[in-house]
Amino acid sequence: MVTPNGEGDRTAAVVGLQFGDEGKGKITDYLSGSYDVVVRFNGGTNAGHTVVTDDGTFKFHLLPSGSLRTSYVVLGSGMVIDPISLIPEIEIVKKVNPALKIIVSRNAHVVTKMHRQLDVEEEKIRSSLMIGTTAQGIGPTYEDKYARTGIRMGDITNFNVVKEKIETMYRMHSNLLSGTEFSQPEKRNEMAQALYDAGLKIKEYLDYTEMAIDRLYSQGKRILFEGAQGVFLDPDFGFYPFVTSSNTISASIYTGTGFSLRKVNRIIGVAKAYVSKVGEGPFPTEITDDLAKQLRDLGGEYGTTTGRPRRVGWLDLPMLRYAVRIDDVDELAITKVDTLGMLDRVKVCKQYLLDGRPIDYVPRDMETIKRIEPVYEEFDGWGSISDSISGRKISIDQLPPKLVKYIKFIEDQLGKPVGIISMGKERNRTVRIIK
Ligand code: GDP
Ligand code: IMO
Ligand code: MG
Repeated sequence: MVTPNGEGDRTAAVVGLQFGDEGKGKITDYLSGSYDVVVRFNGGTNAGHTVVTDDGTFKFHLLPSGSLRTSYVVLGSGMVIDPISLIPEIEIVKKVNPALKIIVSRNAHVVTKMHRQLDVEEEKIRSSLMIGTTAQGIGPTYEDKYARTGIRMGDITNFNVVKEKIETMYRMHSNLLSGTEFSQPEKRNEMAQALYDAGLKIKEYLDYTEMAIDRLYSQGKRILFEGAQGVFLDPDFGFYPFVTSSNTISASIYTGTGFSLRKVNRIIGVAKAYVSKVGEGPFPTEITDDLAKQLRDLGGEYGTTTGRPRRVGWLDLPMLRYAVRIDDVDELAITKVDTLGMLDRVKVCKQYLLDGRPIDYVPRDMETIKRIEPVYEEFDGWGSISDSISGRKISIDQLPPKLVKYIKFIEDQLGKPVGIISMGKERNRTVRIIK
């Protein structure tokens, strides 16, 4: 049973409804004050989740964004983990939250330097169908997982196992790797050694996370799940092939952790008040003129993981309507209203036309989507938002009237309540809306 405003929920999930970078990290950190356990279930270091507190700015790639103040974090088996980059992330959070207990799935797959190289080589082959990946080795690691040649986190505590698996992986991919350093046996040996060394450092955190989560749930702990990426980067439900390689939708909580989605009480869908995207692929409401630069600079829209300038566009309600259904969202969190409100005029796409005729779905074949024409509703910008409401539970009418109009339009169009509004990057610049 979903109760208003979420405080009573034992379990909840935060998922992205657009192309990633919606502000999931900020919302997860904000909510994590009320949860004992925060769990990641998909993706790897392609994710970049930013949290800003009085202690500084933290960019999480592997650890859940709740790591700064919750008691337990879990890296689920659906993730792909680079153990070498996990170590410095752990060191940073341990300084802020020394009592944090970290549990890493033994069965999550290991991203190696070789996978990063393969990511680059595959992009070269794709040529005009290039995805613009984060080059973090994510696709190749999931390829190896499903080809059943992958290395799992539990393997890296045994040098002989890692070594043998690396050799098999190399033989599988030797055509792509022949001109690279990995064709040299001593480089592969070095890689095995580095993974084994990392394995020894993180051995104490390894566990069967499906059992660990179940144990914590049985003890009555409150659990929050944090998604990476967003619905339109999902390989089954997004704009394939311009997607990532793990499922990003709420259903992947189940497959990425073993925790039944039926026990997740509330699904919070995060959407930016406008849209941003890194990498190639369709973007129906993209802005390409000077306004794009203005919005990009106002919002600091440069990738957390890659530093690439993000493409930007207007809020797209047909996309959100679809994402809300696919993710089975209970409530929305809207971020960056402070950024969007600085524009004089704000547009929202409320409908798509296909060849001049209205349609009520999002085409996801790459030829049809090119023929889409968005129909916009226009709003006045609402300017800056007072600091006096920061961190509070408020009624919607305490927001600037022009912003209220914008939020109510979104709620009406999507048929879902906006329960959280983020109006600044800092933890405290957030309000909960009480109905
Ligand atoms: P994620 O991948 O969904 O966690 O999002 P990212 O952290 O990659 O990108 C969101 C960016 O927007 C980060 O730089 C955040 O600090 C910032 N951010 C999040 N919410 C807000 C907000 O409400 N206002 C502003 N101005 N910045 C925000
Ligand atoms: P968070 O969790 C934004 C994009 C890449 C590329 C495509 C495939 O921070 O929201 P990959 O490296 O996964 O093979 O790249 O997906 N992408 C993201 N874009 N935010 C992310 O994560 C992303 N993770 C992957 O830019 O277009
Ligand atoms: Mg991000």
